[in-house]
Amino acid sequence: MSHPVVRIENLRKSYGPIIALDGVSLEVEAGKIFGLLGPNGAGKTTTVKILTTLVRPDGGRVEISGTDVLKDPVKVRSLIGYVPQELTVDPYLTAREHLHYYADLYHLPAAIRASRIREALTLVGLAGHEDRRVRHFSGGMKKKLDLACGLIHRPPLIFLDEPSLGLDVQVRRDVWSYILRLKEQGTTVFLCTNYMDEAERLCDDVAIIDSGRIAVMGTPTALRSQLKRDVISVEIASFNEHQGEMLEALERAVSQLAIVQGTVKDGMQLKVYVESNEIALPQILESAATLTIPIHTITYSRPGLDEVFLHYTGHAFAEEKKNHG
Ligand SMILES: Nc1ncnc2c1ncn2[C@@H]1O[C@H](COP(=O)(O)OP(=O)(O)OP(=O)(O)O)[C@@H](O)[C@H]1O
Ligand SMILES: [Mg+2]
Repeated sequence: MSHPVVRIENLRKSYGPIIALDGVSLEVEAGKIFGLLGPNGAGKTTTVKILTTLVRPDGGRVEISGTDVLKDPVKVRSLIGYVPQELTVDPYLTAREHLHYYADLYHLPAAIRASRIREALTLVGLAGHEDRRVRHFSGGMKKKLDLACGLIHRPPLIFLDEPSLGLDVQVRRDVWSYILRLKEQGTTVFLCTNYMDEAERLCDDVAIIDSGRIAVMGTPTALRSQLKRDVISVEIASFNEHQGEMLEALERAVSQLAIVQGTVKDGMQLKVYVESNEIALPQILESAATLTIPIHTITYSRPGLDEVFLHYTGHAFAEEKKNHG
């Protein structure tokens, strides 16, 4: 029987009074791009640090390709690559020196070394900067170099913790297409992300994590279609000092409509979940008109992963949580 590439069972980890992981279980299939999607402080990096043998859990089981991570960390390290969320580059080395160092570290055959280094530099958009010292790089350039270093040896399983954090739009796209290419070559990718679009675009399977717990798991398409509803977002004109009260009045009014399944306030926006956008939209506009509430914008859409998150956690993705730094 083939093992899943990653198997986690009831993983627990606390830092003093802070519960970072509160019984996380998940499996990652070979050859897939798996996304761990969650807001700041959800427990993504903690999960990856345990999987990459850098942090010991308080409890639970963790396996990589059938090997127990706690019992045989050396073997596990030979199976994985890891690009951490925080920068690891050395300010006094050049970009090329970094890549040579990593190529050495991973015993890359000399014959392919130069072409791999060139390819990695081109991919992340650092071609032409290979002989500059990293201390003269911008933050984005350092991040790109980090990514190039972590990908150079092409391990069967790679952990990417927020790979596109702080990158500009074009480089993000390049990084995405490179991740898809890794998958085509048979690499399994474990990706932590804060970005809905990244999860939606890249991941075969997604686990949504919040406050150290997996809220829900599935393919992005299945997660969205499970909701069986559309969403209408209403924003009231922001120059209005009674905005808050008006939003509440509107929420009360639309909640009475038969077509409305639920409402959630997300900042100064009211999200209204409905069976069908087409039927509900005129009714919501009419409710606002009756209450003489000035609407700034009203938009409607099929549910996205942010609605999935909201549905399973009870709060909006971007909402500030207390209790973490
Ligand atoms: N070394 C540490 N010491 C104390 N608390 C920690 C430590 N590392 C993480 N935490 C706490 O554990 C929780 C989970 O942190 P983690 O870094 O896993 O979150 P994350 O999902 O990766 O967040 P982000 O999106 O901001 O990177 C947070 O409350 C964080 O403050
Ligand atoms: Mg993190």
